[in-house]
Amino acid sequence: MERVSLDHVHSRLLPRGWGVGILVGLVVSAVSVVVPDRGLLEVVNKAGTRGDYFEVFSPFWPGVVVGALLVGVSVAGWLLQRSRPAVLAAGAATAATVTGGAWLSTLVHLASQGSWIEGRPCRHDDGRLDLPAQSGATATLSPVVAYWREAARHEASSVGTFEVLADRLTSFGANEDLAVRCWRAADDERRHATLCTAIAEGLNGGPIGDLDAEWRPSSQVAEDSLERLATEAFVHGAIGEAFSAAILRAGAGSAAPELEVLIRSLANDEDEHAELAKDTIRWCLARGDERVHLALSAAMDAVAEEPHYPSLLVGVVIDDLRVGGLLSESETVDLWRIVRQESINFLRSELAKTS
Ligand SMILES: [Fe+2]
Ligand SMILES: [Fe+2]
Repeated sequence: MERVSLDHVHSRLLPRGWGVGILVGLVVSAVSVVVPDRGLLEVVNKAGTRGDYFEVFSPFWPGVVVGALLVGVSVAGWLLQRSRPAVLAAGAATAATVTGGAWLSTLVHLASQGSWIEGRPCRHDDGRLDLPAQSGATATLSPVVAYWREAARHEASSVGTFEVLADRLTSFGANEDLAVRCWRAADDERRHATLCTAIAEGLNGGPIGDLDAEWRPSSQVAEDSLERLATEAFVHGAIGEAFSAAILRAGAGSAAPELEVLIRSLANDEDEHAELAKDTIRWCLARGDERVHLALSAAMDAVAEEPHYPSLLVGVVIDDLRVGGLLSESETVDLWRIVRQESINFLRSELAKTS
C-alpha cells in the first residue's frame, strides 16, 4: 500500500521549497497574531469598541487569505492523493470496458505495485506468478541465497513467457524479427535460470535443490489483443526488465568477483529484452487503433512511485547484500525513479507520434 502523508503529497504536487516556505509563512502569521504588543484580545476589543472589524483586522487579511489558499492547496493535494487508487481503478475500468478485457485491471494493479522481478515470468490472468517448483527447503538457506534461488524460478518461468510471446506476435502478423528476438530471449532466460542457480550455489557453498525440469506454464492468455501485447510489454518489459537490468548492473560491482561477470551478463540480456519490449510497443501502436493508446495510457498513469522490494531481503545487512550483488531498499528507489521516468518519457513520445 502506497504511503500517504502531507510530506509525500507536497513532494508530488509542490516543489519541496514551497512546502518549507508554507510552513514558515504559517508559523510567522500565527506568531504575528499573538505577539504581546498587538495581542489578539486587544485587537478584538478594539474592533468591538469601534464596530469596524474589517478595518482593525485589515493588517492580517493578506496573511489570512494567503494562508487559507495554501492550506486549501495542501488539503486538495491530500485529497487527490487519497483518491488516487480509486481514480486509477476507475480509469482502468473505463479502459477495460473499451478494450474489452479484465486483464487491463490486473496490469494496472501490477504497475501500481512497482517492480522487482528477475526476467519476465509467466502470470495468470489475475496477476499471480506461474513458476516451476523447486526441490529443497529455503529454511536452511541465507536470505541472499534464497533470493537468487527464487530468481532462478522466475527466469525459468520467463522461458515460457517468451516462447508463447513469439507465437502470439506471429498470430497477429508481426514481422519475423520480433518473433526471432522472442525465441532468442527465451534462450537467454533459460541460461539465466542456470546462472541464477550457479550464483545461489556459489554463495551457499553447495547445492540448493533442483528446478522442476518438466515444468510447463499452466497460465493461459485469454482474450488476446494488440492492446494486451502492448501493455504487457510496457509493464513487464519496458519497465520491469529495464529496472531488472539497472539493479543487476548496479549490484554487480560490489559482488564477489566470481559472481560479477555472471551478474553483468544477466544485466546485458535484460537490457536487450527491454528494447524488444519497446519495439513490440512501437509495432502494436503502428498496427493497432485507439484501444492500444487507451490501454497503454491507463498503465502509464498507474506506474508506482517506488519499486517493490523483495520481502526475502528486508532486514538483511548491507554487507551480505553487497557480496550477493544486491542493493538495499533505499538504493533501489533512485534507480527505479530513473527507469520509471525514462520508460514514461519513451511511451509519451511514442503515443504522441501515433495519435
Ligand atoms: Fe528478461
Ligand atoms: Fe532474465
